[in-house]
Amino acid sequence: MPQVFGKLPTTRQPWISLGNVDHIEKHDRGVILTCGTAKLKLTILAANLVRVQLAPQGEFLPRRSWAVNRPDEEWEQVPFELEENEIRTSQIRVVIQRSPCRIQWFDQSGQPFAHDTDMGWRMGQIACWKRIETEEHFYGFGERAGLLDKRSEVKTNWTKDALDYDAIDDEMYQAIPFFITLRPQLTYGIFLNITHLSQFDLGASEPGIWRMQAQSQELDYYVIHGDAPAQILETYTALTGRMPLPPKWALGYHQCRWSYETAEVVQQIAHEFRSRKIPCDVIHFDIDYMNGYRVFTWSPKRFPDPAKLIQQLKQEGFKTVTIVDPGVKYEPDGDYLPYHEGLAKDCFVRNADGSLVYGYVWPDKAVFPDFLRAEVRQWWGEWQRTLTEVGVEGIWNDMNEPALTDRPFGDEGVHIPFPMDAPQGNPGEGGTHAETHNLYGYNMARASAEGLRQLRDQRSFVLTRSGFAGIQRWSAVWTGDNQSLWEHLEMSLPMLMNLGLSGVSFVGSDIGGFAGNATGELFARWMQIGMFYPLMRGHSSLTTAQHEPWVFGERVEAICREYIELRYQLLPYLYTLFWQSSQTGAPILRPLLYEYPNDSKTYHLHDQLLLGSYLMAAPVYRPGVECRAVYLPEGTWFDWWTGEKYEGNQHILAHAPLERMPMYVKAGAIIPMQPVMQYVDEHPIAQLKVRIYPGVGEFTLYEDDGRSLNPDYRTTTFQVNDTIVKIQPSHAVRDRTMLVKMVGVGEQSVSEDGSAKQLNFHSHT
Ligand code: GLC
Repeated sequence: MPQVFGKLPTTRQPWISLGNVDHIEKHDRGVILTCGTAKLKLTILAANLVRVQLAPQGEFLPRRSWAVNRPDEEWEQVPFELEENEIRTSQIRVVIQRSPCRIQWFDQSGQPFAHDTDMGWRMGQIACWKRIETEEHFYGFGERAGLLDKRSEVKTNWTKDALDYDAIDDEMYQAIPFFITLRPQLTYGIFLNITHLSQFDLGASEPGIWRMQAQSQELDYYVIHGDAPAQILETYTALTGRMPLPPKWALGYHQCRWSYETAEVVQQIAHEFRSRKIPCDVIHFDIDYMNGYRVFTWSPKRFPDPAKLIQQLKQEGFKTVTIVDPGVKYEPDGDYLPYHEGLAKDCFVRNADGSLVYGYVWPDKAVFPDFLRAEVRQWWGEWQRTLTEVGVEGIWNDMNEPALTDRPFGDEGVHIPFPMDAPQGNPGEGGTHAETHNLYGYNMARASAEGLRQLRDQRSFVLTRSGFAGIQRWSAVWTGDNQSLWEHLEMSLPMLMNLGLSGVSFVGSDIGGFAGNATGELFARWMQIGMFYPLMRGHSSLTTAQHEPWVFGERVEAICREYIELRYQLLPYLYTLFWQSSQTGAPILRPLLYEYPNDSKTYHLHDQLLLGSYLMAAPVYRPGVECRAVYLPEGTWFDWWTGEKYEGNQHILAHAPLERMPMYVKAGAIIPMQPVMQYVDEHPIAQLKVRIYPGVGEFTLYEDDGRSLNPDYRTTTFQVNDTIVKIQPSHAVRDRTMLVKMVGVGEQSVSEDGSAKQLNFHSHT
């Protein structure tokens, strides 16, 4: 039976299919095809990037795209040839079939991709159908439950509070209408540039055909061609923007709970980390720090002197992140300023009839800022001063799908949506809530990031639960309320990897699981792979048992300490991956298919992960398991722990007692490491240790002060060829030496005097 179309309203109205091409007209960047009343516009933005717009009534309405960071006119003109029914760039060939009008796409070797099988519209809906080629697989789609490849599934783009989500769920907190298809030698991406409710059907209804459909008057999507997923992501993030480099401390371990409910409890947690010598950088304050859940307030009882507390934490090397929810307590009778000021400045979303939109969230009856408007973002951003002035360094945005109920929380409130016809944004720029719902979290995160940028003359950390395409420009993302289950530990792997394949690199899942009680074994295994999460945060819910690294006994505590320590040792490598991502959009955490796109054995591999291109983890995600199969792709690999060498293109059985997460490194890998610290930059690095694995490889280490907005930085390029290492630094480093270790061969100490070096390990040892 074909799968039901998720939330898209079903209608029996037949589709009106796009007819024959009457006329082809060239414009400076492409063509406009006239087909009866409709117009189809193709705009060539790069040799591998084409925008496709379909206006059934022949008029392209002025429309603001919130996700696109680089509008058409900002792309450099690229040469293309137009000949009869064919457009050619240096990378692709686009063939216009005239009757009926359908677009066919080819790569340079003549391989077809993204061929239209149909295009059409009916009552407020628009759609396009394309052919699925044999062996084609589908990845990305933002934040998604389930495994890696989404072929034969339906993916709806509609942000929602995905409480209690499971593998079968469709809509999630994030809505990112972007995906990458992959088959050997050919990959392409589709970005549907529509914020309305939309949906991809990836061969669920009709095997061999995928469909995109939206509740919108116009179709607007981009086709990105690439020789590998890396090129797709580079182009997609050129379009939607890249992550700015976060503060380096945000790469440390974060500890969170709903809630560390008093200043004393927070101090105790901080004390435990330091006295047990478990590295930690960040403590998150959940909703109970507020006074009655009023945003931008502090509970006078539980946190009487936040400035003093945060200052003390700072002295111990901890940074403070506070949660901020969008619902502003509706309090006409009190003196709660964010409400009164917001009302006076007309910041809150109103219904079409002018009345305030409200719903029930933590503070009970609440109203919601219209973050689509710049002046509202500005106003909200400025309110964050109440937090930054007492020393808060990061903001955690939650419930911003937006989540609301129609009755007080805890009263089994029925979830009602926002009124869909509520106008949002400036007239002519926004639209109704139906059009902008998916942007609510995105623009809230934007308000937080922009505000922090104004308030603090350095980098800040922003974390959001909801977002849309391009969210990476403003915030890190975590995968919401997962559960303390082995299945959720497993599912976090493909979820985070698919987010990375959607342009969102700074991602994590709640380590240990948010809802439910973790066992010590689950917690230890989760912490092991959590070390690979770009955002490494432990979190747990209100009614669960405590989930800190020391509550499960000595054995688990030792495992947590070891893997958190390893995380800190790997910081020079990891921070460089963040920098790379900020430059190219490359994911930090990657599925193997990203590096081995022509190896179909990687296409379903959801349980092995790469940190950058060198370091691979094969975590254990079931209880009582002490060994597991590991796929090693082509090339030579080394066991991280023992240095044992393996030839690739084979499966091996890894020994994995509870203390051991199997990890492998590729031949030619260059991994700069630092000593263990209790928090990021606790002290200067006296010796940088660079682990190099014999083979062929290159790596440019990036270093800066970790906090400035436009920092001075230095790079050190390492090249390895067999056992010869060339080092090219951009600057000298004072009071630091470098120990280069050629694994299995020997090590050499090198001065960091700024001069180029060549090390020959065979002659040395
Ligand atoms: C939501 C968040 C969770 C948070 C809780 C209380 O459930 O997803 O992380 O702890 O609200 O603020």
